[in-house]
Amino acid sequence: MIYDAIILGAGGAGLMAAATAGQAGARVLVVDHAAEAGKKILISGGGRCNFTNMNVEPGCFISANPHFMKSALKRYTQWDFVALVEEHNIAWHEKTLGQLFCDGSARQIVTLLLGECQRGGVEIRLGTGIGAIGHADGRFTIGRDSARSLVIATGGPSIPKLGATGIAYEIAERFGLGVVTPRPALVPFTLGEDERLFKDISGVACQAVASIRDVGFAEAVLFTHKGLSGPAILQISSYWKPGEAIALCLDRDAAERLKAAKRAMPKAGLKAALSELLPNRLADALAGRIGLEKRLGDCADAELEHAAESLTALTFRPSGTEGYAKAEVTAGGIDTASLSSKTMEARAVPGLFAIGEAVDVTGWLGGYNFQWAWASGVAAGRAI
Ligand code: FDA
Repeated sequence: MIYDAIILGAGGAGLMAAATAGQAGARVLVVDHAAEAGKKILISGGGRCNFTNMNVEPGCFISANPHFMKSALKRYTQWDFVALVEEHNIAWHEKTLGQLFCDGSARQIVTLLLGECQRGGVEIRLGTGIGAIGHADGRFTIGRDSARSLVIATGGPSIPKLGATGIAYEIAERFGLGVVTPRPALVPFTLGEDERLFKDISGVACQAVASIRDVGFAEAVLFTHKGLSGPAILQISSYWKPGEAIALCLDRDAAERLKAAKRAMPKAGLKAALSELLPNRLADALAGRIGLEKRLGDCADAELEHAAESLTALTFRPSGTEGYAKAEVTAGGIDTASLSSKTMEARAVPGLFAIGEAVDVTGWLGGYNFQWAWASGVAAGRAI
């Protein structure tokens, strides 16, 4: 069959591009090897899909080119998607930090996208592998189907058990597009035996600022039996390079608080003072690490200031991450230098587009990755 566009991948980006192009009159085929469209949407946001964020800004995205995402995000904003959600009578709410979720279920978002595709007369072929891609005379061929536009929307390899693969990079390389080395992002850290302190308090959660270089996230941290997780950790993992140390600030006023505790309860020990500031098991473990055995009243202020450093800059060096099996997204991907920021079309291969997570644009935790999927999908869909 002859189409105007063949879209590889029926995830958020692919379906959005298909609906946009279809509604503008293009004949569109979407191909996906999964048995169901939008599988990642279905499991997202704990089943309620954090479909966008009220505070979308280019600074909330990571890419080798920090300007690349600006155009698409500006031309299809979070409010455009919210308007679409409302048009489909999907009730939503802000949970925290501008994160918008469905009141009901993530399936409503998949139904919305499939409904928009249907309005555009889009044909969706599921359970279908991509196979060899032909390219001649300005047309792309897959099996018996051909089109003048081909859209790579197959995402990244995170969560392979859902059918995620790195095929986007193979296709990109085959057509001469660059690929920024992919890596798991929004992913928990693992720790070696030398970081025993953290493993011993598995299950404990607290608020902290996790930071690396000049980037920091103030959210919850969760100590796990493998290492560290929780929103602050997932966020900072996207910036982490192997070998680098992460600093956790558990209380930036710790020095003043310990000195106040010395005055208020001079007979108490450090552990009791830390228990006022932190969960008990974390306070125990930290007091053990600091090793200040004296009563607070017998400690010099300088000793307390030194002890406080363990709370203001508790550093650890991850041994690695839990990898693609647990990564919410893949950072890196198809090099934006190969693409037009306005249309997502490959500069050197007319008719070839790349969108969504397959591209080297990675959002923060909190609905930003879906907003990129919608915005880049619309950008390509309008250009097809
Ligand atoms: P996506 O991966 O969604 O779609 C790619 C499609 O291509 C899939 O349907 C796949 O089957 C298909 N495909 C892959 N390889 C193929 C092959 N070889 N042949 C044929 N088809 C192939 N983001 C957010 O903003 N808010 C949130 O709440 C969450 N929550 C969340 C939870 C969990 C557990 C995960 C894993 C991820 C999230 N995310 C998220 C991230 C978000 O899901 C992700 O960034 C987008 O789904 C990316 O959309 P894409 O359409 O680019 O890829």
